[in-house]
Amino acid sequence: TRNIDLAVVAGDGIGTEVVEQGLAVLDAAVAGSDLKISTTEFDLGARRWHATGETLTDTDLQRIREHDAILLGAIGDPSVPSGVLERGLLLKLRFALDHYVNLRPGKLYQGVTSPLAAPGEVDFVVVREGTEGPYVGNGGSVRTGTPHEIATEVSVNTAFGVERVVRDAFARAQARPRQHLTLVHKHNVLVHAGHLWRRTVEAVNADFPDVTTDYLHVDAATIFLTTNPSRFDVIVTDNLFGDILTDQAAAITGGIGLAASANINPDRTAPSMFEPVHGSAPDIAGQGKADPTATVLSVSLLLDHLGLADEARRVEAAVAADLVGRGATVRTTAEVGRDLAARVAG
Ligand code: NAD
Ligand code: IPM
Ligand code: MN
Repeated sequence: TRNIDLAVVAGDGIGTEVVEQGLAVLDAAVAGSDLKISTTEFDLGARRWHATGETLTDTDLQRIREHDAILLGAIGDPSVPSGVLERGLLLKLRFALDHYVNLRPGKLYQGVTSPLAAPGEVDFVVVREGTEGPYVGNGGSVRTGTPHEIATEVSVNTAFGVERVVRDAFARAQARPRQHLTLVHKHNVLVHAGHLWRRTVEAVNADFPDVTTDYLHVDAATIFLTTNPSRFDVIVTDNLFGDILTDQAAAITGGIGLAASANINPDRTAPSMFEPVHGSAPDIAGQGKADPTATVLSVSLLLDHLGLADEARRVEAAVAADLVGRGATVRTTAEVGRDLAARVAG
C-alpha cells in the first residue's frame, strides 16, 4: 500500500463545497487500488481569522509541509479586509512552499460552449511565474489618505527566478506536439523586467532547440486569446500577467467553473498545491450552484504530480465525458460531483 498524505484547505465560500466533491472523486479514483489517501483538514480562512486573528501560523505551515500535496478550495471573504487572507494565507503558501510554476491549462473540451463563435481547437497551457513579480509585497504608501499619497508596488524579477520558470516552460513545450512557446510581457514599457525575460527566453532556447518561440505584449495577447486562441501552445509569463490571462483563458474555454491549476514546486523541496483558478464566489456561496469541475480537474493535475498518470487520465476522462453530454442541464454542486465520481468508478 502506498499512502498519500493530503493537506486539505477547503477555505471560504464555495471552497468548502467544491473541495468536498473533489475529494469524493479522488476517493473514487483510488478505490480498489493499493493507494490510500489520508487527509488532514486545515481550518484556515475567514472563520479562523475572525476567531483568532491568525491567517497562517508557523505551526500550520510546518504541519502542511509534512504532507505529499495540498488541495485548496478558495479563500477570501467580504467580511475580511481585502488582502488579509489573499496575502497572509494563499500567497504565503505559494511563496513559502516555493510554488514557482503556476500551471494553468486552457483547454476547450468537446461539448463545451465557448463564448467565441469559432474558437477552433483550443489547447494551451499557461506557465505563470508564482513567486515573484508585483506579488512580492515590495511596496508601500506614504502620506496615506492625503492628496499627496504615493503608493508603490514594485515588481521583482530575479535572473534566478525568471530562468527557472522559463526552463520549466521550455521543458513542457518540448514535450508537447507543437513545441511552441510564447513569452508574454510588456517590454515596450516595463523595459527592465521585460528585457530580462526576453534575454532569458533567448538564452534558454539554446538548450531546447526544437522549441519555436514568439513574443507578444500582454495587451496584444488578450486580443489573440479572443480572436485566435488556437495559436497558443505554451505561454510563459509573469505572476500578474498570468493571473489576468488565465481568467480570460477560463472564460473562452467554457467558464471559470472549469479552470484548473497547479502550484508546483518542481524541485520537490515542499508539497505542491492544487486549486481551481476561481475564488470563493461569495455571490453564489452556500447555494449549491458552484461547479466543482475546476476542482476535479485540479485533482487530476494532483494525481499527475504524484506520478499517478493512469488515475489522472481516468479523472480527466470522466470530466471530458460528462462535459460532452452536459448541454444546458443544470445540476447542483453535489450532483455534478456525484456524477463525476460515478464515471471515475466506472
Ligand atoms: P471569483 O472567482 O470568486 O468569482 C468570480 C465570478 O465567477 C462570480 O460571479 C462567481 O459566482 C463565479 N464563479 C467562480 N467560481 C465558480 C464556480 N466554481 N462555479 C460557478 N461560478 C463560479 O472571483 P472574485 O469575485 O473576484 O473574488 C471573490 C473572492 O475570492 C475575493 O476575496 C478574492 O480575493 C478571492 N479569490 C481567491 C482565489 C483563491 O483562493 N485561489 C482566487 C480568486 C479570487
Ligand atoms: C488566483 C487569485 C489569486 C492571485 C489572489 C486571490 C491572490 O486571483 O489564484 O488567480 O492573484 O494569484
Ligand atoms: Mn486570479
